[in-house]
Amino acid sequence: MFKHAIVRKPCKNFQFGISTSNLGKPDYQRALLQHSKYVEALIKCNLSVLELNEDSRFPDSTFVEDTAIVDEAFAVTTNFGVKSRQGEQIEIKDKLKTFYNTLESIRNPGTLEGGDIMKVEEHYYIGLSNRTNDEGANQLKRILKRYGYSSTTVPLKKVLHLKTGISYLGDAILLVSGEFKNHPDFRKYNLIEVQESEVYATNSLRVNKYVLIPKGYVNLKKQLLNFSFRVIELEMSEFEKMDGGLSCLSLRF
Ligand code: GLY
Repeated sequence: MFKHAIVRKPCKNFQFGISTSNLGKPDYQRALLQHSKYVEALIKCNLSVLELNEDSRFPDSTFVEDTAIVDEAFAVTTNFGVKSRQGEQIEIKDKLKTFYNTLESIRNPGTLEGGDIMKVEEHYYIGLSNRTNDEGANQLKRILKRYGYSSTTVPLKKVLHLKTGISYLGDAILLVSGEFKNHPDFRKYNLIEVQESEVYATNSLRVNKYVLIPKGYVNLKKQLLNFSFRVIELEMSEFEKMDGGLSCLSLRF
């Protein structure tokens, strides 16, 4: 069970973050409203939420998931593979010190971002992306091994981060789209395939008894209800414009 979440409000420079979506400029007031609904949903999932103030130095800083890997017994701050986000992890590190006795970190020349890390029970998958390199992955693997976890790397073909195209929902069930539909590493799981027109919703998020999904993805919602998941739908349009999904908006531990 997750008990805590850390989130950060989108900042006034949110529109200047990295985006490949071609969906237009985000509406800042709408982004703030969508973010507040996201926080409410985490509270409904029984999490105690630490909400950090906006940080206009970093347009993408609302996507806190990329700053750290957080587990029960350890936390690892990351090292961004993209220049405009380097430094986002510094304040997060300070905050994590109130929850963890020891903190690990990924260091140069290793780069690694939290969106590339997916935990499935006692195993971690590490996406090798444009943001996470072999050295970063190897540093994380060594840390995970010390804490008793196995890990494997997954070279990515098209997606920004690993969890752009695959999400773990618990109970050996994975949501998959695109390059992960027939991926040999994930055949052993129970796969829910997200159809091409709903690909954004692949980044859905299991939090305790609920699955958070972006609003408006009717086929996925139906599929999840067939599996008896309790679904919470959230408007995510302004974050989608900036290449961000549901998992990106929080650290959960
Ligand atoms: N806009 C989120 C990212 O590219 O990291």
